[in-house]
Amino acid sequence: MKAIAIYEHGGPEVLRYVDLPEPEISEEEVLVRLRASALNHMDIFVRRGWRGLKLSFPHIPGADGAGVVEEVGASVEGVERGDPVVLNPGLNCGRCEFCLRGDDSLCVRYGILGEHANGTYAELVRVPGRNVLPMKKGFSFGEAAAIPLVFMTAWRMLVTRAKVQPGEDVLVLGAGGGVASAAIQIAALLGARVLATSSSEEKLKKAQEIGADIVINYREQPFEKVVWERTGKRGVDVVVETVGEATWKKSLRSLAKGGRLVTCGATTGPMGETDIRLVFWRQLRIIGSTMGTRAGLEEVLDLAWSHRLSPSIHAVLPLEKARDAQMIMESGEHFGKIVLQP
Ligand SMILES: NC(=O)c1ccc[n+]([C@@H]2O[C@H](COP(=O)([O-])OP(=O)(O)OC[C@H]3O[C@@H](n4cnc5c(N)ncnc54)[C@H](OP(=O)(O)O)[C@@H]3O)[C@@H](O)[C@H]2O)c1
Ligand SMILES: [Zn+2]
Repeated sequence: MKAIAIYEHGGPEVLRYVDLPEPEISEEEVLVRLRASALNHMDIFVRRGWRGLKLSFPHIPGADGAGVVEEVGASVEGVERGDPVVLNPGLNCGRCEFCLRGDDSLCVRYGILGEHANGTYAELVRVPGRNVLPMKKGFSFGEAAAIPLVFMTAWRMLVTRAKVQPGEDVLVLGAGGGVASAAIQIAALLGARVLATSSSEEKLKKAQEIGADIVINYREQPFEKVVWERTGKRGVDVVVETVGEATWKKSLRSLAKGGRLVTCGATTGPMGETDIRLVFWRQLRIIGSTMGTRAGLEEVLDLAWSHRLSPSIHAVLPLEKARDAQMIMESGEHFGKIVLQP
């Protein structure tokens, strides 16, 4: 099969378009012929590598995908050859204490497709039978592939962890990001007033189109000052953080008394500065969140199938252009998701 694989860590040049053997499935797995996959910032971190990350090369990146079931393992139920499906990128054991209480992404053996197993930058991928979900008719594979990882992550951040309420002020940083653009839509759906920051007027306009009420160009103004003014010197109830080091201190300053900062990422670096006095005096909560659950994914898919959530798609490229696709993401010119088609 054709696939994009890496044989070492490095820049975009290590992504190679190659022929690899077709994956063989166990009786608990299914083989999916991918019709689309979608990029996540994680793919770039995996490509670059980090201390402690051990991949077996060649490694195929990619967490998100949608396609048609090609082969079904003997013990998999409810999935048929020929079914159009979208993949759950979260790999969990289903047996540990966290899985049993329904917290899939706290699983002691948690993994993500494209990091802990070969991923979706390929014509075929093998996944556990429980990781495929039916696609609704009328949706393109590209749209379906652009949903799972970022929407299930944003859903857990806002709904499960930060418990956003109608009427609250929610600040989403870096609206052009995949998780951020999903978070804007979910916050609006929950009835919050959404403030969003981004790096250009064009992106701010798009942020408004998907649900942001107040937009701030973080390149032109200190966003925390604008937040302070626009909330009548109160601050916001919730900050959705994916940016990390570059914004952390300002994110904490943007919170109202009793506010919550929910974080899932650190694109600009992991060492944020925390003024502890601010945390105790304003009685803030800093909440971590990672990925989501199968149930959460089902909720966001249902909302997508009924057109209440819809992924922002920046570009669709052929699979062999994965290098260009990752370069677009690294340069930060995208708004939303970048899709690859084998
Ligand atoms: N823990 C988890 O489960 C989980 C899940 C998904 C993602 N993540 C992490 O979350 C982060 C975002 O992922 P993604 O796929 O959404 O990435 P992405 O699509 O590449 O988005 C990154 C966005 O960050 C914004 N940004 C970058 N530098 C900034 C700065 N100095 N100030 C303000 N905003 C800045 C940009 O927003 P503008 O374009 O608006 O300027 C950019 O588009 C990554 O670090 C990823 O690893 C974690
Ligand atoms: Zn588990």
